[in-house]
Amino acid sequence: MTEVKAKRQALLEARYGTEQQKPDNLIWTPQVEALLSHKSVRTFLPHPLPEGAIETMVAAAQSASNSSALNQWSLVAITDPQLKQRISDTVARSVPVDRIPWIEEAPALLLWVADLSRAAGLTEDAGKAPVVFDYLDSFLMASIDAALAAQNAAIAAESIGLGIVYLGVMRNIAKEVAEIINLPEYSFVTFGMAVGLPDESRTSSIRPRPAQPMVLYYNQYEQDRYRDYLERYETAYQAFRCRQKMSDKTWAGSVVESATSMDYLGGRDKLRETIIQRGFRLK
Ligand SMILES: Cc1cc2nc3c(=O)[nH]c(=O)nc-3n(C[C@H](O)[C@H](O)[C@H](O)COP(=O)(O)O)c2cc1C
Repeated sequence: MTEVKAKRQALLEARYGTEQQKPDNLIWTPQVEALLSHKSVRTFLPHPLPEGAIETMVAAAQSASNSSALNQWSLVAITDPQLKQRISDTVARSVPVDRIPWIEEAPALLLWVADLSRAAGLTEDAGKAPVVFDYLDSFLMASIDAALAAQNAAIAAESIGLGIVYLGVMRNIAKEVAEIINLPEYSFVTFGMAVGLPDESRTSSIRPRPAQPMVLYYNQYEQDRYRDYLERYETAYQAFRCRQKMSDKTWAGSVVESATSMDYLGGRDKLRETIIQRGFRLK
């Protein structure tokens, strides 16, 4: 086996585990290899970001498709250590831990904003009211665009040797974080992203995903098909957790917990109110 083939095989093994079926017809490119190499990084070296890293990530983010070319997202990069600590402390109060080390260790915390505020300003300048923003779709559109932008930025960061972890936990403190960073009406932090140089001696490995038939359907959805693939996914999931010395949990158990635990919500049961207060009406 050539070196390239061996690397690609190892990536598939890592992504799906040894037991699950793997696609054998992938069209490999360097970009596909990079995408399949993704893993969240929660351990960072105490180094600043390389010069130009954030601008590179933003150029990649701006290159993502965006709804109707309206540019309805913004990034607030928190690089001031004291401000980052303040946000980290505020988030930590919303979860059952004292601190979130990966926010503290990362040299930058990126806050991805679904942002209709510029459009609202331009509409008001035109002497009109942004009535369309009262509808759920406007909120969803800006949130989708922020997510697509962030993912492009994540890929760019990984390509220059940085590591990232998304921080949905930032929505636990949606109201507070908006105040801390001075967000205008019609804008909302969809999630955060910690970014920095990975401390490889402490990073986790690639996290397995279910076999493709659990998520890929051709032409018609088959509601219960996933059940046939659960057992092997649980094996891969367990092997990963065991390697990472994580607590003993099944994937199905985690899914059920996330669907039933108010602790998992971490205060996000109040999110609708906050979003409405921020100007979105969600009709
Ligand atoms: C929108 C979003 C929000 C997330 N929020 C958090 C978070 O608050 N804290 C965290 O540690 N990881 C968070 N993650 C990371 C996921 O836990 C991670 O992507 C998942 O476990 C798969 O692992 P991998 O990224 O290493 O493949 C988030 C991921 C996404 C996409």
